[in-house]
Amino acid sequence: MSKKTSRFPQGFLWGVATSAYQIEGAWNEDGKGESIWDRFCHTPGRIANGETGDVACDHYHRWQEDGELIAALHLNAYRFSISWPRVLPEGRGTPNPKGLAFYDRLVDALLAKGVAPVVTLYHWDLPQAVQDAGGWLNRRTADWFAEYAELVYRTLGDRVRLWITINEPNVVWSCGYLLGEHAPGVKDRATANQALHHILLAHGKAVEAGRAALPGTEFGIAPNIEHFYAVTEEAREAVERKRLQEVAWHLEPVLLGKYPEELWQEYELMGLAPLTRPGDLERIHQPLDFLAINFYFSGFYDRDGRGRAVEVSRPMPRTGLGWPIYPKALRDMLIDVTARYGRRPIYITENGAAFDDVIGPDGGVHDPERVEYLRGHINAVHEAIEAGVDVRGYFVWTLMDNFEWARGYKPRFGLVYTDYATGRRIIKDSGRYYAEVARTNGLVVCL
Ligand code: FCB
Repeated sequence: MSKKTSRFPQGFLWGVATSAYQIEGAWNEDGKGESIWDRFCHTPGRIANGETGDVACDHYHRWQEDGELIAALHLNAYRFSISWPRVLPEGRGTPNPKGLAFYDRLVDALLAKGVAPVVTLYHWDLPQAVQDAGGWLNRRTADWFAEYAELVYRTLGDRVRLWITINEPNVVWSCGYLLGEHAPGVKDRATANQALHHILLAHGKAVEAGRAALPGTEFGIAPNIEHFYAVTEEAREAVERKRLQEVAWHLEPVLLGKYPEELWQEYELMGLAPLTRPGDLERIHQPLDFLAINFYFSGFYDRDGRGRAVEVSRPMPRTGLGWPIYPKALRDMLIDVTARYGRRPIYITENGAAFDDVIGPDGGVHDPERVEYLRGHINAVHEAIEAGVDVRGYFVWTLMDNFEWARGYKPRFGLVYTDYATGRRIIKDSGRYYAEVARTNGLVVCL
């Protein structure tokens, strides 16, 4: 067997991604306000084992150690999110200086280690005070979001080049408002569509504000994009319809300035279309400097008797959560997005897998399945680049095992093992592997 090294473009960003609620803890410390995730987790029955992000990885206190871990992994970028209620406890009004100081110090520490901070403004922890005023169903929330964004721009804008407005509008739509599994726990399609519209509007307003405040910096949004395959020619239409509902519905307003026509008309007939105002779609359709894509899922679909797409199960490796491991779909998704929406800079801002990692008898955490997962997906990114896709960076979800939303602490996604009893962090084999890829800006593949 021979080996070759696939080199990545110069300046390629190798990073990890985290989000505030999943790692910080300190949920009510130093003046932080309550978020909808604090409220959701404190509501019995919402989260596996009644777990909460109250302490999480205690990153709020261990941020220096975590910064050192990032540097030890040879990464040149770190994507993290700002907790809106930590910096604006009421969602608007008086800022919390201690909250702002936390992120200020973090950014300085990262830069001192040669790590580029990539900031996500919204990774789901809406201030509870904003929720009490209607949350994403209240159009004003889009304005409050832009005001909050301006505050963060003023504080960190002199040092942060890459900004992501919203993490996965489609997952907020589906998990938060359709399935009710995430905060705020709603199950209603009309409500979901209205919330999505305001979230996208918030994105547009925050980009607009950012352009005015920070010329020369770059703005993007981070949808979660799944790739669907049709198993037969006849299934194509049904699969395209699925893509329309699950991808185009949230992506096309941002990238094309319109909701997919056919679906809009159907929703309108059924009373499920969101209320919009003239000018909204222009505002949502801001020129973007990059698209940030989170990638986890793909599936094979046939059509049933009524012409709907039905998933067909194919034997393939799966993660500890049963998610399919099919790296080729990452390449195909990147090529497809580029073909449909034009060539533009793309960052893969999340990709990763949960497994049931344990500390071995030798004190190490050996996770060969994650190493294989990473090798396959990084190779897929390289293939996409070779096929002409403009990928500028790759971020593993996630730095360290953390609070995985409704599933609590059981799924371990980290490159670093978190020992929750002691707070100790242990770099897993996959972390060492990824560090080598980042250090050499290359991937060794067997031919
Ligand atoms: C994504 C989320 C992220 C994490 C991963 C596993 O949808 O953005 O916070 O939970 O899934």
